Amino acid sequence: MIQFENVTKVYKGENEVVALSDVDLTIKDGEIFGIIGLSGAGKSTLVRCINLLETPDKGRVSVNGVDMLSLTSRRLREERKKIGMIFQHFNLLSSRTVEDNIAFPLELSKVPKKVRKEKVAELLELVGLTDKARAYPSQLSGGQKQRVGIARALANDQEILLCDEATSALDPQTTRSILDLLKKINKERGITIVIITHEMNVIKEICDKVAVIEDGRIIESGVVEEVLLNPTTDTAKTFLKGVIKTEVPPEVAARLKLSNGGELIQITFLGGETGEPIINEMVSKFDVLVNILYGNIDQVQDITFGMLVLKLTGPEQKLAKAFLEDKGLKVKVISDV
Ligand SMILES: Nc1ncnc2c1ncn2[C@@H]1O[C@H](COP(=O)(O)OP(=O)(O)OP(=O)(O)O)[C@@H](O)[C@H]1O
Ligand SMILES: [Mg+2]
Repeated sequence: MIQFENVTKVYKGENEVVALSDVDLTIKDGEIFGIIGLSGAGKSTLVRCINLLETPDKGRVSVNGVDMLSLTSRRLREERKKIGMIFQHFNLLSSRTVEDNIAFPLELSKVPKKVRKEKVAELLELVGLTDKARAYPSQLSGGQKQRVGIARALANDQEILLCDEATSALDPQTTRSILDLLKKINKERGITIVIITHEMNVIKEICDKVAVIEDGRIIESGVVEEVLLNPTTDTAKTFLKGVIKTEVPPEVAARLKLSNGGELIQITFLGGETGEPIINEMVSKFDVLVNILYGNIDQVQDITFGMLVLKLTGPEQKLAKAFLEDKGLKVKVISDV
């Protein structure tokens, strides 16, 4: 478990910057925890305070019950070894081959050569780069470089992996494959993963929990689906634009309003229920006609959510609408959008 209690970090100098302000945060073992925020919000500072690459000015940082700020430098080095880190620009050693890059932390830990070789072979297999063992970083694609970064970050059997914008330099498809690899590592090895990103899609793809950071403060946090569907702050809402479409685009709304008669409603649903069985039930129960005019269905990990615009006509349209609300769907009349 990683725990921050009232952590404050101020960069001193000509212009003092409060990079973290009173941050409380709990990341449980085995979680994939996302931290999202705009440039300069304090994301890298926050993650660097986990392994004390930055020292907080105030507050407490504990990792697996160890109070990190109380350690001697020797003990801190030991604790740091349990925490791997990967970066946007990979930070590989260009004069070393892939296998020697991965072996590097093992050499530093004085692991015997034979064990090193076995370990490197296992890690190459884990990240799918066995055939590139002898290649140099310059001969690899961005995605392959990040795979080397991941293998190197896990060489000492780390329990925690910190990812600072690890996919920001990659195209969407490669990003996806790296995220899949991180997910696999999390599942198979039970490694806790902290992901820093400014892309909501990364959060949506693999994170269990998310914290939104702004000006050094955590302004929102929780289970991903909840934050995605009920953002309470403007910053969170801004990140969500385009990720989950729960609004009817204005041009579509204008077109829909031209259709005469009946009542236009928008329903939003979440979870195991898709709208379909409920709509079927409504049609069979009430004297009402339903036209589906617009819709968007999406998936956040295993959870389906979506939005449909329906036109209800018929003598029992009011009852039908009440029925949908009774079923727990969010119903909004949009005749006036
Ligand atoms: N070593 C430093 N010295 C002085 N100020 C710093 C230092 N590192 C970061 N800052 C400042 O602290 C604030 C937070 O920086 P940080 O790097 O944590 O942001 P970030 O959210 O990671 O941004 P980005 O998305 O651009 O990487 C910024 O205002 C930044 O300018
Ligand atoms: Mg950063």
